[in-house]
Amino acid sequence: PAPLRIGLAGLGTVGVGVIKIVQQHADMIAMRAGRPITITAVSARDATRDRGVDLSGFAWESDPVALARRDDVDVFVEVMGGHEGAAKDATEAALATGKDVVTANKALLAHYGQALADSAEAAGRTIRFEAAVAGGIPIIKALTEGLAGNAIRRVMGVMNGTCNYILTRMEDTGLPYDVVFEEARALGYLEADPNLDVGGIDASHKLSLLASIAFGTQVSFDAVEMEGIGAVSIDDIRRAGDMGYRIKLLGVAQMTGRGLEQRMTPCLVPCDSPLGQLSGGTNMVVVEGDAVGQIVLRGAGAGQGPTASAVMGDVIDLARGIRTPTFGVPAAHLTVPVAAHSAAP
Ligand code: NDP
Ligand code: HSE
Repeated sequence: PAPLRIGLAGLGTVGVGVIKIVQQHADMIAMRAGRPITITAVSARDATRDRGVDLSGFAWESDPVALARRDDVDVFVEVMGGHEGAAKDATEAALATGKDVVTANKALLAHYGQALADSAEAAGRTIRFEAAVAGGIPIIKALTEGLAGNAIRRVMGVMNGTCNYILTRMEDTGLPYDVVFEEARALGYLEADPNLDVGGIDASHKLSLLASIAFGTQVSFDAVEMEGIGAVSIDDIRRAGDMGYRIKLLGVAQMTGRGLEQRMTPCLVPCDSPLGQLSGGTNMVVVEGDAVGQIVLRGAGAGQGPTASAVMGDVIDLARGIRTPTFGVPAAHLTVPVAAHSAAP
C-alpha cells in the first residue's frame, strides 16, 4: 500500500520526538497502520542546527506554508506553536490544499478551532489534536470514541504540569512561590511566556477544547473563568494541609441549568483523592459520563516522548482512514454555548 506522507513543521522538542518514533518504530507502525508512514519534508527556522536526529532523507522547506502545500505531503503535522502567524497560516494552507492536519497547538485551536474545523470539513478533511491536551494522555480519543455513548456530566483535571510542579514543590519544601517559580524557570519547565503557565492560560486553552468535545459546543476559550497560581502563598498551602487538603490548579467544565461553566482556578482538593495525590509535573483528567461513571486518566502532560506519542497516535489513525470530526461532531453541529458565569466554589 502507498505510504502516508508527513510534512513536519517544527523540529523542536515535539518535532524531534515525532522523527524518533517514525524512525525507530517504522515496521511496527506500518503493521499497525496497514501502510508505511514516512516523513517527506520538514521545516524549522534554523536549517543549520544539529537536532540530534538524521534529517538527511527529508526535503527542507524554510517556509512552513510551502511545506503545507506540497504535493508529496498527505498529512501536515504542525508542532511549531503560537496561535498567530506561521502555525495558523500553514494550517489553513494545508486544509485548503486537501491535507489532514495533526497539531499539538492548543493555543491555535482555542482561538481559531471553530473556523479551522469548518475549513477542514469543507475540504473533507479533519484536524486531530490529541497532543494539545494533557500531552501523552489520550483524552481526546477517550471522549470522541471510547466514551461516545455517554452524556458527559463533567470534565475536570490538572492540565498544566508546570503549575502542578510549582505547587507540589512549594508544599514539599516550604519555599515561597517566587523561589520555586525561578527554580522552574531554571529547569526549563516554563513556556517562553511564563504567564501562559502560571496565569492559567495554557490550562484554560486545554479545558476549552475538552468542553467543546464533551458538550458539543463551539470552543469558548474567552468564557473560561480563569485565575492563575501567582497569588497562592506558602501560608495558603500550609493551612490547606492542616485541613487535609492540597491546592491544585483545577479545571472544571460542566453543563449546568444556567449554561456551560468553565473554570480554571486554584482549588482545595482532599489529600487522599486521586487529584490530591497528583504530584510533580503530571497531569490528570477526570471524566464523568452518565453510563460509564467516573474515569480517571493520569500521565505525562508534556515532554518529548509523551507528546510525540500522542501526535503519532493521530497520524496512525489517519493512515488507517479514521477521520473523526475535529471536535467529535461535525463542526456545523456544534452549538454556541451560553456561559453560566457562576460564582467560584
Ligand atoms: P519548540 O520551541 O521546542 O519547537 C518549535 C519548533 O518550531 C522549532 O523547531 C522552531 O524552529 C519551529 N518554528 C517556530 N516558528 C517557526 C516558523 N515561523 N517557521 C518555521 N519553523 C518555526 O516547541 P515544542 O516542540 O515544545 O512545542 C511545539 C508545539 O507543541 C507547541 O504548540 C506546544 O504548545 C505544543 N506542546 C508541547 C509540549 C511539550 O512538552 N514541549 C506538550 C504539549 C504540547 P527552530 O528550531 O529553528 O527555532
Ligand atoms: N507548559 C505546559 C505544561 C506544556 O506545563 O503543562 C504542556 O502543554
